[in-house]
Amino acid sequence: MVTNDKSEIGAFKTPTLREIANTAPYMHDGRFGTLEEVVAFYNKGGIKNPFLSELILPLELTAQEQKDLVAFLRTLNGEGWQHVKAPEEFPQ
Ligand code: HEM
Repeated sequence: MVTNDKSEIGAFKTPTLREIANTAPYMHDGRFGTLEEVVAFYNKGGIKNPFLSELILPLELTAQEQKDLVAFLRTLNGEGWQHVKAPEEFPQ
């Protein structure tokens, strides 16, 4: 809808993972309430559809590896950036 380019259907801006433990719900439509659900989604290789890149594959992570990945995501919080304001316009 933004570019009218069919090859970009299903493409989204890759968001930062900073403070990800504090910014639920996740994805452009807020479909996941928890990081566990996000990791399970990636572990399955996303949702099959005609626009899915062939590079996106099931990860085959064990339950423990998925837990470890969620634990890592929860470490991406911190202090020192909170004064930064969102830009008010796109760069020219
Ligand atoms: C296991 C590996 C990955 C993890 C743990 C991960 C984690 C996440 C998380 C937590 C979000 C939600 C961000 C939010 O809603 O603020 C997200 C969204 C996103 N990630 Fe990943 N990601 C992984 C792999 C990838 C890869 C390989 C790509 C691209 C090739 C990618 C591209 C994106 C994009 C475009 C979004 C936004 C999707 C949307 O808005 O619906 N991610 N990711």
